[in-house]
Amino acid sequence: MDSFEWNKIIGAVLGTAIFIFVVRVVAENIYEPEKPAKPGYVVEGVVETPAGGGGAAAPVAEALPDWGTVLAKADIAAGKATAAKCEACHDLSAAKTIKIGPPLFGVVDRARASIAGFAYSGELKGHPANWTYDELYKFLKSPGAYLPGTKMSFAGISKSDDRINLIAFLRSNTDAPAPIPAPKPAEAPAAAAPAAGAAPAADGAPVKGPNGPAAPPPAPKAN
Ligand code: HEC
Repeated sequence: MDSFEWNKIIGAVLGTAIFIFVVRVVAENIYEPEKPAKPGYVVEGVVETPAGGGGAAAPVAEALPDWGTVLAKADIAAGKATAAKCEACHDLSAAKTIKIGPPLFGVVDRARASIAGFAYSGELKGHPANWTYDELYKFLKSPGAYLPGTKMSFAGISKSDDRINLIAFLRSNTDAPAPIPAPKPAEAPAAAAPAAGAAPAADGAPVKGPNGPAAPPPAPKAN
């Protein structure tokens, strides 16, 4: 076989290889598996952490309180009691000592990840923001769900009222408390009464349920 013949054979082999390669690339593009927007099944109680940190699977947004209304009547003493949980890792005092976590004196409205000398996670450093009432409210519900990758290994405080009281305490725990915004105009009453209908009448009056009037109180026995 002369070299011309060999060239033809090599050419044929290369041509086939290129053909197979092109077919594969085209096929992959056509048949690329599509991820469903919603998972086919939802496991109750499992927090999904987005792999890329993209926040796509962020927890369902909770209505934010109207701080102008709730802060004025918050229970700061109850918030201080809740803050005992934080003290395992955070110094709350004006000494601003770094513990497992950064000091929290004056944390409201402070810039995120701004305590010099504390080794923050990339997650906290990478998303600049201020610790506004809203941010604290969302973060403290479930730190790991709101900022996946945070070093704060704390489950969170699920009850809205507990968080509001805690934030009211954090606001007071400083030399110069952050201002309380003006209450929002009452155009969204739905958010103000989350448990409407579920609350029993406090004064013991017969409750009219959705199924009509409740049974009348037992008549006094006539002797
Ligand atoms: C198990 C220890 C631990 C507990 C308990 C804890 N934290 Fe933290 N916290 C941390 C750590 C660690 C960080 C730093 C997070 C990072 O860098 O990702 C942090 C960060 C924070 C930040 C961000 C501060 C900044 O300078 O940006 C706030 C706000 C905060 N914690 C509030 C609280 C509150 C309020 C509580 C109590 C309800 C609490 N933490 C309970 C460990 C804890």
